[in-house]
Amino acid sequence: MIREAIFPNTLCFIFVFFSISSATDIITPSHPLSNGETLISAKGTFALGFFTAPDSANRYLGIWYHNIPVQTVVWVANRRNPIHDLNATLSINADDASLYLTTSGNSTPIWSSPSFPKLFPNPIGQLLDTGNFVVKSFNSSSVLWQSFDHPTDTMVPGMKAGPNLKTGIDRNLTAWLSVSDPSPGKYTLAIDPIGVPQLVIRDASGSWIWRGGPWNGFGFSGTGQFFDVAFYREFISVFSSNPDEIYYSFNTVGDAISIVTMDENGTARRYGWEASLQKWDLYWLAPSDPCDFFSACGINAVCDTSRSPICRCLDGFDPKNPASWSRGNWTDGCVRVSTLGCGANGTDEFMLVRGSKLPDTAAAVADRSLDLDGCRARCLMDCSCKAYASADLSRGGNGCIIWMAEIKDLRVYANGGQDLYVRVAPRDSGT
Ligand SMILES: *[C@@H]1O[C@H](CO)[C@@H](O)[C@H](O)[C@H]1NC(C)=O
Ligand SMILES: *[C@@H]1O[C@H](CO)[C@@H](O)[C@H](O)[C@H]1NC(C)=O
Ligand SMILES: *[C@@H]1O[C@H](CO)[C@@H](O)[C@H](O)[C@H]1NC(C)=O
Ligand SMILES: *[C@@H]1O[C@H](CO)[C@@H](O)[C@H](O)[C@H]1NC(C)=O
Ligand SMILES: *[C@@H]1O[C@H](CO)[C@@H](O)[C@H](O)[C@H]1NC(C)=O
Ligand SMILES: *[C@@H]1O[C@H](CO)[C@@H](O)[C@H](O)[C@H]1NC(C)=O
Repeated sequence: MIREAIFPNTLCFIFVFFSISSATDIITPSHPLSNGETLISAKGTFALGFFTAPDSANRYLGIWYHNIPVQTVVWVANRRNPIHDLNATLSINADDASLYLTTSGNSTPIWSSPSFPKLFPNPIGQLLDTGNFVVKSFNSSSVLWQSFDHPTDTMVPGMKAGPNLKTGIDRNLTAWLSVSDPSPGKYTLAIDPIGVPQLVIRDASGSWIWRGGPWNGFGFSGTGQFFDVAFYREFISVFSSNPDEIYYSFNTVGDAISIVTMDENGTARRYGWEASLQKWDLYWLAPSDPCDFFSACGINAVCDTSRSPICRCLDGFDPKNPASWSRGNWTDGCVRVSTLGCGANGTDEFMLVRGSKLPDTAAAVADRSLDLDGCRARCLMDCSCKAYASADLSRGGNGCIIWMAEIKDLRVYANGGQDLYVRVAPRDSGT
């Protein structure tokens, strides 16, 4: 959450100067953190302490960038339970290594982290220079608990977003309810592991608002150049899907500062810090145009912002409900003109859709071993296969994705995107 109001630079310098003189990055059972105190990470990048939400009297324990003057809270501990009392303390339990946040006159913590068996002597809470607040034994490097596993609405470099399949922790970004209230809001940005994993924005009911699509080796298929490894040299993206976890992560290059946030109105954004102007630059946001909204044109249709109307049926398909389609209601999508040959000995053909954002992969499978020809052959052998495309563009088009359901949420870009091969009956294949 970025707070636009800035305190004057002079004050800021005093603040920084003051903080350095008393800086520590740890709390211990005998040295808790009280109101007014902050932990400062080793190189001064992040601070952990108490802040007041804008236009609100409520106070929270959080982490913010210490080295930039625009208050940018990246993590909130007690997002559901604000501190009303002025006197709050963050402590760590010597016996079970749990963190607990208490207010004066109330022994029940308003927030706490999990307890651990008494195997970990001298527990400390340490604010790392990555912005990760970790609980560990003083002498040990193994982390018992970390704030990076419990993101708020902001992703900082080094954090992973996506499900940890071993622990069951879903590391998603959940928006603040409003600018002045960090309690969980309506929207989440998460990796959905079903089918071929995709980046998605969900609303409060769990419905998808926007789909970034599967990772294509350079970026998520539907995030265009702005998430891409190649476009911005200030950060490097990483995506991994393995039996233990599926995640997106990024690291910045040199002194660059970049964050990804999920806002209260359902918009995901990437910002970069513009040091010369001392402000955040908006690099990318989604959804950003009518074709970005999930399934804007219904099934078997293509969304193209450069055309009017933006929706058309794929070649070989007609509107399911022509009257409503002609009124601009795309909900019912399109249906096949000719039945697929299926089984009649590979008589079906494929229509190439260039510049595609890959359609919804919830009902798709990836085969990393096949090339495009192998992919085509495999698709032809299976009547439920509706389309195929290359799975990884970064190594000259390796692997393939095969769609086992109708084409949904397909759009094309004037620049970028990739080739998608849609199965059609021979006479509908066009050119
Ligand atoms: C704040 O709480 C601490 C611990 O409960 C107590 O020692 C201190 O006196 C309190 N300060 C104020 C101003 O209430
Ligand atoms: C932990 O570190 C302290 C200080 O370096 C040392 O005295 C102590 O023996 C260490 N304890 C363990 C369990 O390694
Ligand atoms: C987001 O993560 C939180 C914490 O793990 C979890 O309770 C919630 O169900 C997740 N929401 C979505 C939509 O993934
Ligand atoms: C969300 O929408 C409301 C109402 O239009 C607006 O006041 C607010 O500034 C928006 N929030 C953000 C983060 O854009
Ligand atoms: C669009 O069509 C769907 C399905 O036919 C219908 O349920 C919906 O009410 C229509 N929307 C509008 C705005 O007419
Ligand atoms: C499949 O195609 C081959 C070669 O085109 C042909 O010899 C064969 O009879 C066909 N089989 C069927 C079941 O259509």
